[in-house]
Amino acid sequence: MIKVGIIGMGMIGRAHLDALQRIPGVEVVAVASPNLEDLVKLQEGFGIRHVFADWRELVDCPDVEAVHNCTPNHLHHEINLACISRGKVIFSEKPLGMDVQETSEAAAKAKTSSIACGVNFCYRAYPMVQWAKQLIQEGYLGEIRAIYGHYLQDWLMYETDYDWRVDSKVGGFARAVGDIGSHWVDLARYLTGLEVEEVLADTSIFWPQRIEPTSGQPVPVDTEDWATALLRFNGGVKGNVVISQISGGHQNDLQIEIVGTKRTIRWRQEDPEILWIGERGGCNQIRYKDGSAMGAVAAKHASYPPGHPEGYPDCIKNTIANFYSHVLGQGGDFPTFEDGHRAMEVVTAIIHSAETERWTRVGGGL
Ligand SMILES: NC(=O)c1ccc[n+]([C@@H]2O[C@H](COP(=O)([O-])OP(=O)(O)OC[C@H]3O[C@@H](n4cnc5c(N)ncnc54)[C@H](O)[C@@H]3O)[C@@H](O)[C@H]2O)c1
Repeated sequence: MIKVGIIGMGMIGRAHLDALQRIPGVEVVAVASPNLEDLVKLQEGFGIRHVFADWRELVDCPDVEAVHNCTPNHLHHEINLACISRGKVIFSEKPLGMDVQETSEAAAKAKTSSIACGVNFCYRAYPMVQWAKQLIQEGYLGEIRAIYGHYLQDWLMYETDYDWRVDSKVGGFARAVGDIGSHWVDLARYLTGLEVEEVLADTSIFWPQRIEPTSGQPVPVDTEDWATALLRFNGGVKGNVVISQISGGHQNDLQIEIVGTKRTIRWRQEDPEILWIGERGGCNQIRYKDGSAMGAVAAKHASYPPGHPEGYPDCIKNTIANFYSHVLGQGGDFPTFEDGHRAMEVVTAIIHSAETERWTRVGGGL
């Protein structure tokens, strides 16, 4: 059994705990978060050996072999590097760091170390995303011409909506783009194998101040609620994306459409069991998850039979299972620290382009 510790037991830390309980060969032995009272409840409920208020104690705990970093963004880099330096497997939440300096350092250290380092770009591991990737690789769409879509949320729609992500010292210089846009960028890269080379972007801060709930006072906000970006991928492939945290009624609406010379494919996170395939002169298709029709890799990502819908917790489970399959030397396709850095380079270029109102090359840094 690989002994795992989770740092940060908020929304996603609990999702990691849930996923890890479903994966053979791993055991959660420790959790760390500042609120010990909550941790003790988890300890009793799940039979977890160690609880720590300070993440350093978890990283130093000899019982812990692998660490899941589920903390707010400003802590990702320090914790990830501490794990690598102690020879502990690290599976980090996104974004990989606060800026490209951090993500490039983390990616470089991961490359030169023998430690397995993964980042949770979990949408890759939905069964229908895997099927879409397979179809694209087989040439079913023909040559790719365009990639476009959106990632829309509404939980920061009002002035009174607040979260640590709104504070750039904790969340980072890019909020909507870094928090959710990074997922879309990763999915576009993963599905097509193409890289974003240049961007032209526009961003807006619709609430330049928000009401901080503890004080009830307005505080200034310097990160974007909204971004639109034109994208140039390599090979002349065109793209665009809309990223928003203020779009009423869209809770976690990631959509990606890929246009090829033969067909078009579309996938939506809020309807994850469906793949839409468009074909001029043919019958457009709506495909549903069905292991017997999908290729072996895609079928492996479906834990339940057709007609038994799988959703967000399942894609997290699949992502983490693929990571530990790699850790156990059994192969496993998972998002690496290099992928985390690539996503941050695109995020950085989008923000830079919006500030300068110019086409910006990805990888140029701020
Ligand atoms: N991959 C995904 O789909 C996905 C989804 C949600 C969040 N995330 C990422 O996960 C991270 C956490 O987001 P969340 O939504 O769970 O936030 P959250 O606010 O719900 O949870 C954060 C947790 O970290 C804890 N924490 C704060 N300071 C800490 C410290 N010094 N040491 C240890 N724990 C500390 C908090 O007490 C809290 O339990 C973010 O980086 C976010 O980008 C990823």
